[in-house]
Amino acid sequence: MKPLILALALVLAAPLPAQAAHPRPPRDLRELAHQHGIRIGSAVDIAALRAEADYRKVLNREFSHVTAENAMKWESVEPERGVFTWADADALVENARRNHQRVRGHTLVWHNQLPAWLTTGVENGTIGATELRKILRDHITTQARRYKGKIRAWDVVNEVVNDDGTMRQSIWLTHLGPGYIADAFRWAHRADPHAKLYINDYNLEWNAPKIETTLSIVKDLQAQGVPIHGIGFQGHLGIQYDYPGDWANVMRRFADLGLEVAVTELDVRMELPVTPEKLATQAEYYRRALTDCLSVKACREFTVWGFTDRHSWVPGWFPGQGAACLFDENLAPKPAYHALLSVKKG
Ligand code: G3I
Repeated sequence: MKPLILALALVLAAPLPAQAAHPRPPRDLRELAHQHGIRIGSAVDIAALRAEADYRKVLNREFSHVTAENAMKWESVEPERGVFTWADADALVENARRNHQRVRGHTLVWHNQLPAWLTTGVENGTIGATELRKILRDHITTQARRYKGKIRAWDVVNEVVNDDGTMRQSIWLTHLGPGYIADAFRWAHRADPHAKLYINDYNLEWNAPKIETTLSIVKDLQAQGVPIHGIGFQGHLGIQYDYPGDWANVMRRFADLGLEVAVTELDVRMELPVTPEKLATQAEYYRRALTDCLSVKACREFTVWGFTDRHSWVPGWFPGQGAACLFDENLAPKPAYHALLSVKKG
């Protein structure tokens, strides 16, 4: 072939630039995520996954990443000492495999939703510090090993910093001292060396004392050679508060430390009743959150904390508030859903 014809052939054969390759708007969140090169996920209510065909259909159509809302928490997987109940967590992982979804493990170390045998044992002194440390190590090892190779990212430690920037006085800090965080990451890494290991928290989108303390925890762990790979911003927002306008910069500060970034639990609640104006504001918050994530190269995952108002933790925790999700109770997409679909590359 002559050089000119060869050059022409090469130009014609070259892939189109991203914009031109996707001339039409994405048909759903899965396609949107694919176009942007990230994963869009949702927390999953296992009871609904089992019982509701329409819930399953929307979940598996829209989302390429999933997190168990409760099924992987300690009280769920070991309600009695030594009695493991993996059925719900297994069901989530299996559903994910069949539907090409990656999984976020949530969560290995937390102060909430601990089994009663553990908290009462610590309170009444039948479980001392040495035993508690062994219990934590065994828990992390057992759970991370069980799902080895099936979990893309683990929330290793969840909510370890208070809003005022002090360390949370959980049973872990009180009885094991601050070294429990480094230990937890090391144990998780040993059990599943390929999983990305995250520190995860709420209000980290805007709260300066919490941000600074969390940054120093990360630097400190890195200085000790502890395997920490990611920062999770839960993102529980409400339209009655301003959108956290500095969020992308905060993400960048963690990315600058070499961490992967994820939005792990996004929802945007409102005072009820719902009005078209409130839904429009909510849509804007969702749009801005995705835009912020996409503006930071290290942001790889954008997960919502439930996708339907039919199953959301919000009304139970914030009386008078709700409607925080992308789909309504009947699984009709809300303006927030369409706002996400409209987010353009770049
Ligand atoms: O397991 C019992 C069940 O046996 C009983 O029938 C039922 C009746 O109320 O309660 C069940 O427990 C509930 C549990 O969810 C499982 O559904 C608890 O009462 C309820 O408090 C618990 O709430 C969860 C909450 O974490 C607990 O801290 C929410 O569903 C869950 O969305 C929420 O998730 C957290 C993340 O893990 C961490 N970040 C914040 C986020 C929102 O709080």
